[in-house]
Amino acid sequence: MKFLPISFFILALATAIALAYDPSPLQDICVATNNLDSGVFVNGRFCKDPNQATADDFLFMGLRNPGNTANPLGSKVTPAFVNQFPGVNTLGVSMARIDFAPGGLNPPHLHPRGSEVQFVAEGMLLAGFVTSNQLNNTFFTKVLYKGDVFAFPIGLIHFQLNIGNTYALAFSSFSSQNPGIITVANAVFGAKPPISVDVLTKAFQLDKKVVDYLQAQFWYDNN
Ligand code: GLV
Ligand code: MN
Repeated sequence: MKFLPISFFILALATAIALAYDPSPLQDICVATNNLDSGVFVNGRFCKDPNQATADDFLFMGLRNPGNTANPLGSKVTPAFVNQFPGVNTLGVSMARIDFAPGGLNPPHLHPRGSEVQFVAEGMLLAGFVTSNQLNNTFFTKVLYKGDVFAFPIGLIHFQLNIGNTYALAFSSFSSQNPGIITVANAVFGAKPPISVDVLTKAFQLDKKVVDYLQAQFWYDNN
């Protein structure tokens, strides 16, 4: 009986160690420094004095207006992430509005720090995501109608295409205040400085001419 408290303590300690994991990053990079003068961000943003906060800090009106879809993709993502909407700092949530012209595409992209759920407010979208190699790059796809909601798991490549004849509108919520957006084509073929042609010809099984062509394109960023 007298060993019970100590065994309980060891068990609790083991459980705590087993459950411990690193906090998820809220930014792309955070290089460690010992120089306190140049150390700026750890994670997220500094907090305003709570006594100075007002209701306005928790209101974002930037999703009221349609984004301009007169661009090469025919779509526009208007983010309400922590950079646009400071009130969500530390809350682990954010939103976006996505406008689509007929035929408009929100091109294959991923969010490195958040899952997404998307609500279709107008129109009809073809949406899909591709799993990692854990599930052999399986493609999950659906046609979404007004009122539907579709989920895109964190870190998986996904897209939406307006397959209707009318304008389409969607609103998304994210499980991060700063989910990030990596647009696949832009990141691969529009990287600055460019990724070596040798890497891309082999990786994508393309002729060097095709890689040169792709790297010379202007990769429009719709967000
Ligand atoms: C935005 O990130 C979207 O997938 O619509
Ligand atoms: Mn997305």
